[in-house]
Amino acid sequence: MFKRIGVIGSGAMGRGIAQLFATAGVQVLLHDSRREAIDQALAYNRETLERAAARGRLGRVELDATLARLQPAESLAALADCDLLIEAIVEDLEAKQALFCELEALVAADAVLATNTSSLSVTRIASACRHPERIAGFHFFNPVPLMKIVEVIRGERTDPQVIERLAALAEQAGHFPARTPDSPGFLVNHAGRAYGTEALRILAEGVATPAQIDRILRDSLGFRMGPFELIDLVGLDVTQAVMDSVYRQFYQDPRYTPSWLVAPRLAAGLLGRKSGQGFYRYLDGQAQVEAEPAPAPVAIARPLWLDSRDAGVRRQVATVLAAAGTALEEGEQPSARAICLVTPLGEDASSLIARQGLPVARSLALETLAGFDRRRVLMRQPGLDAGVLAQARQALGADGVPVEVIDDSPGFVAQRVLACIVNLGCEIAQRRIASPAVLDRAVQLALGYPHGPLGFGERFGAARIAQILHELHEQYQEPRYRVSPWLRRRVQLGLPLTTPERQEQSA
Ligand code: NAI
Repeated sequence: MFKRIGVIGSGAMGRGIAQLFATAGVQVLLHDSRREAIDQALAYNRETLERAAARGRLGRVELDATLARLQPAESLAALADCDLLIEAIVEDLEAKQALFCELEALVAADAVLATNTSSLSVTRIASACRHPERIAGFHFFNPVPLMKIVEVIRGERTDPQVIERLAALAEQAGHFPARTPDSPGFLVNHAGRAYGTEALRILAEGVATPAQIDRILRDSLGFRMGPFELIDLVGLDVTQAVMDSVYRQFYQDPRYTPSWLVAPRLAAGLLGRKSGQGFYRYLDGQAQVEAEPAPAPVAIARPLWLDSRDAGVRRQVATVLAAAGTALEEGEQPSARAICLVTPLGEDASSLIARQGLPVARSLALETLAGFDRRRVLMRQPGLDAGVLAQARQALGADGVPVEVIDDSPGFVAQRVLACIVNLGCEIAQRRIASPAVLDRAVQLALGYPHGPLGFGERFGAARIAQILHELHEQYQEPRYRVSPWLRRRVQLGLPLTTPERQEQSA
């Protein structure tokens, strides 16, 4: 186990890493090229730990011992007898390479060197060194003590024992070590590409507003934060840099295509929360969200017909309609005056209405896969009569559940984003970037998703996800939506998405 850790760079990440390991019982020396940065970091950590002690989360003796384990290192030379060096300096390849070369000359031959880089190749950082086998990525998340996960990244030449030692240290400190090879975005930033990029595509197609998309994804899929709230929080500049970098490193694979909507916003200084405006405007730190529209009540003068024969779906809809004082038609075909509700899986409203030969002015789509209890989504099409829409909206919201009306889109909002998240997760598993279990745990811990990508697939049905992707692929004719072989094979064989590539040998 490591006895003495040197942390270089005392910014937001370095100070968090130092606090984590000092709390876990390891001696930590904290260095920065700016002396005041070290002092600020130590003062910040002292305050944080004292607050924890005041709240009873840390005993007095423990507090003193932890603080004693956390010491400043004024010069790099003071780190000479550390057996682990963790770098958290500026995100610049040359600066990191220069630092690692300097450290190599300073520390013992068996000391391990780790980088907290979030986007640079660990292999490239190590390539300037004489002993790249002792260099690995150790990628924490902000704030380090609270985000209980770290990616342990194996560069092309990293010794597997180095990975195991770092993983054991992470576990000692209560963090989940997600072992992953050196690949674009590593594991978490790669898996996180689908949520924001697909939401931006939906916005770019004019399907719904950012506030609508955020509400739908929070209420229908259980995300804590909508994609636009998240982009505003992270900053459009940071988001753009990550999107571009992953896209470039995968040689323009259309799965990762960034949105053209971001660059003009950046040019206009709409960086998100930090500049006071991004997709939302902020007043005193609070997002100013448009109120949800409250349409004037209308009389429901038409019966409603539903294309689905699924008993569960019919029951759900019939219950709401009963609250509206109307009933669901039972016939296979709609009556002459009925409002026709179609329930597409991956298709858009226009395609399904055309395919079923339904009356254009009286037909619209209802989302039934993702979310019905907390929010309902109706999808119109260009030929829909406005009066019919008003009646459908009133009927579907009769029990007080808010109804969102969006424009035509293959896969509504939730199906589309969900399918892209699952598909990308499958691709990550296929490329052996992480095992199914590590992938799902890492995404839940680092991104706060209610399920990991594969878990989401299981929750909503892998065959349905494959169907949504198939339709998106058909409708857009874009390889962006091509089904991952990992997903296709498991659907074909009727296996859970979490099934690993090879079975253990049976006795
Ligand atoms: P920061 O800007 O808060 O801190 C960087 C510190 O490094 C500064 O105090 C600076 O004086 C010092 N520094 C710069 N060059 C140095 C050198 N050659 N020698 C010694 N000290 C030097 O940056 P932050 O946010 O802490 O990020 C540090 C690293 O962690 C970057 O590589 C970043 O990409 C990565 N990272 C950042 C995350 C975040 O959410 N902020 C998350 C995960 C990784």
